[in-house]
Order: sequence, then C-alpha cells, then structure tokens
Amino acid sequence: MLKYDIDSEIEPLTAPMVAAHGLTKLFSGGGADLRAVSDVSFELEPGIFAAITGPSGSGKSTLLHLLGGIEKPSSGEIDVAGTPVHALGESELAKFRLMQVGFIFQAFHLIPNLTIFNNVAMPGLLAGVASAALRDRVLRLLETVGIRDKADRLPHELSGGQQQRAAIARALVNDPQVILADEPTGNLDSAAGDAVLQLLGELNDRGKTLLMVTHDARIAGWAGKQLRMRDGRLVTTAEA
Ligand SMILES: Nc1ncnc2c1ncn2[C@@H]1O[C@H](COP(=O)(O)OP(=O)(O)O)[C@@H](O)[C@H]1O
Ligand SMILES: [Mg+2]
Repeated sequence: MLKYDIDSEIEPLTAPMVAAHGLTKLFSGGGADLRAVSDVSFELEPGIFAAITGPSGSGKSTLLHLLGGIEKPSSGEIDVAGTPVHALGESELAKFRLMQVGFIFQAFHLIPNLTIFNNVAMPGLLAGVASAALRDRVLRLLETVGIRDKADRLPHELSGGQQQRAAIARALVNDPQVILADEPTGNLDSAAGDAVLQLLGELNDRGKTLLMVTHDARIAGWAGKQLRMRDGRLVTTAEA
C-alpha cells in the first residue's frame, strides 16, 4: 500500500539559505578547550530576518564568523546560499566571503586611510568588477544608504552612523544574498541606530536574507526567527 507522508507534503519547497548542522567551534589555550559554539543546528529560509540573541560570551559572534567563513569550524556542516562552507579550501573561502555574504561589524571596520568611495569599492575591485561599472554601483549604493555626498571623505570625517552606512554599502557591493550583522547598532546612539536598522530592514524587504546578532529585545522582536544562545548552545529557536 502506498503510504501517504503528510510531513513531506508540508515541507517548504525552497532549500534553506543558511543551514548549520552539528556546528562546533573549540578554542584551545590555557589548558581545557573552550566550546565557543557547541553542536548548533538550524535552518533559515531565503529572505528571512533572523536574530541571534544571548548573553555576552555565549558564542553569537563566533557563530556568525563560522557562517561567514571568517572562522573555520572544529566540526559540523555549514551551507550558505548553496555553498558547503565547511568544505572549502582557503582560496574558495576567500571567494565565498567576497561574493556570497556581506558582513557588518559593530565597529564598522572601514580602512582608515581610504576614502569612503574606495572603502565601498574595495570588495568590487577584489572581485574584478570593471571600473566604470564599479563606479556606478558604488555611487548608487552610497545614494541608497544616504551618504553620496561623503564619497571623497575619510572614515574619521564621518559620524558613527554614517560610517556604518558606508560599511553596509560595502557589504552590498558584490550583491550577496546573505547579510550577517554583528550588533550593527552597538556603537551608535539611538537615532543613528534606528536609521541603520531601517536600512537593514529595507534590504531584507528587497529579498536579502538577514541574520543579525542583537542584545536589544525590541529589535529581536521584529525578527521572523530568533536563535537564542547560551554557553555556545542554541537554547531556543522561536518563530514569530
Ligand atoms: N579567537 C578566540 N580565541 C579564544 N577564545 C575566543 C575567541 N573568540 C571568542 N572566544 C571565546 O568564545 C566564547 C564566545 O565568544 P563570542 O562568540 O565572542 O561571544 P558573544 O559574541 O556572544 O559575546 C567566549 O568565551 C570568548 O571568550
Ligand atoms: Mg559578540
């Protein structure tokens, strides 16, 4: 007799955009290994806004670094936009970081002696985008994030909020499907922080999958999915 499998009928048809399976990261030193991320598994559908929450030291940044190919896992599997990140060699990993994810850091991480234009252009240059096309793209992105008039300034000449908007433009220059943001408003006052959140929300509305670490329960409340961490483990996954 043919068995009717109701579970397979309600499975989403799309593959996850971000998936982790049994993801573990050990840091060694000072005797015992520290399990910064411990056996974490989850899946995010394309286009979702997901928040990672949890106390300081719970492994949120390490998890984001693993997903973005900045750190290598000790064990487990990572799939981002169809790429098996855990299995990549160094040069493939560099290409993955350049093309498939946009990373936004709390402290902006702009290159201090490059203009805002050149900071935003850098990932495009590294990706070999032709200069005329790259120039158009950078100016359009600076327009989108509201700092077109700052193109020729150095990072230190901008406010924190403006620097973070430059960092967002930089994250978008190679048009990645996934944006990873680690406390992107953590160094900003509330007005500048709200503007950055609004911008990230608009990117998500336009289809970018957004995974954001945040301490702020209000922001986490807007997320379609919350991943809550404690001591390196995923303790709850809440869907809105
Ligand atoms: N590069 C590293 N080397 C050693 N320990 C680290 C490193 N990065 C993070 N850790 C440790 O891993 C744990 C998780 O850190 P982290 O991911 O930064 O947490 P969170 O972002 O939630 O504050 C902490 O105990 C931290 O000290
Ligand atoms: Mg952190």
